[in-house]
Amino acid sequence: MKWPNHGGQPEKIKQLLNINMERKLLDFSANLNPLGPPSWLKATLDDNYEKITRYPDPSYSNSILTIANHEGVEQDNVLLTNGGAEAIFLVAKYFENKKTMIVHPTFSEYERACKHYHIDVEDIFYEQENDFNLQITLISEKLKEKDVLFLCRPNNPTGTVVAEEDLQLLLEEGKKTETFIVVDEAFVDFLLPPTTNLSTWLASYPNLILLRSLTKLYTIPGLRIGYILARPSIINVLKNEQIPWSVNSLVDAVVPKLLEDRAFIEDTRAWLYEQSKSVYEMLAELDFYTTPSQVNFYLLRDKKHPNRTEELFYFLLEHGILTRHTHNFKGLKGEFLRIAIRSKEENEQLLDVLRKWRNGL
Ligand SMILES: Cc1ncc(COP(=O)(O)O)c(C=O)c1O
Repeated sequence: MKWPNHGGQPEKIKQLLNINMERKLLDFSANLNPLGPPSWLKATLDDNYEKITRYPDPSYSNSILTIANHEGVEQDNVLLTNGGAEAIFLVAKYFENKKTMIVHPTFSEYERACKHYHIDVEDIFYEQENDFNLQITLISEKLKEKDVLFLCRPNNPTGTVVAEEDLQLLLEEGKKTETFIVVDEAFVDFLLPPTTNLSTWLASYPNLILLRSLTKLYTIPGLRIGYILARPSIINVLKNEQIPWSVNSLVDAVVPKLLEDRAFIEDTRAWLYEQSKSVYEMLAELDFYTTPSQVNFYLLRDKKHPNRTEELFYFLLEHGILTRHTHNFKGLKGEFLRIAIRSKEENEQLLDVLRKWRNGL
């Protein structure tokens, strides 16, 4: 079967599998914040409706200034992008025809972008048997052969986070070998404090490039907002490569309000802390393996029946629950399911079905 490349496509899955189901599927396959979008966003978009009749301010000055203040960097360290996806492709373009390493399993668009720009890619793998740990010595030794390393932190689909000391070690080594480290932080806002904002490292590590996305935290995949943080000389080159007016004119009106909404972030973290704690406890009791995720999704495998993941996927689907298959995550071979943490009620429904699975086998 030709599985869809990304999660969050319940209607497509129904069509593909020929499922004639009136009932809406509960979607655990996308890793968006179930609390979002913030309640004020609709009114702000309505208020700014007339902006779509004009071209955006090409400098996106409102957003850039707010992002720079928010991150504690200068405005020339920031490039606003059409979501995290444009950020990935712009950075790949910067390394056209060069050499990279990608650590799998991870978000598939790094590889697609690298192939598009004829980048020579070496695949490296997290140590699956060791809770998807980074092979730090191996990677560090290989840096001298590469121009850039792509790292997803927190990583999609495992939800795991490369330790700060390991990242620092790679950045130090990369400085010596003139290798850039690109860190995609699309899920960073879900991490519970204390966390270090990596933008504070930009001054010490000119080889660090950070990719951000507002999509996941605020549940706004349709608005397309992301940004790149890097040293000014890189930002300048990327800016020249960017398609004119790549970011729409409504974005400048919403970015400052989104970044100022601290209460929304606090609510999100409170929900995630409470729900992830109870979900992981229950899953462990039911004898499922879960990755030591620090964010709003995790990989799951049945410890008692590790080879029956596909069957489990269909069992959940029959019971109205859509999870994310892992066939197109290199290294996983479909042996895990990626599952999002949702609202209390939805998580309970998922656990009920998993209990049925456990009791039925
Ligand atoms: C790790 C990662 N980075 C970037 C993106 C793309 O985000 P955006 O929707 O902002 O383009 C995704 C989307 O799934 C993702 O998982």
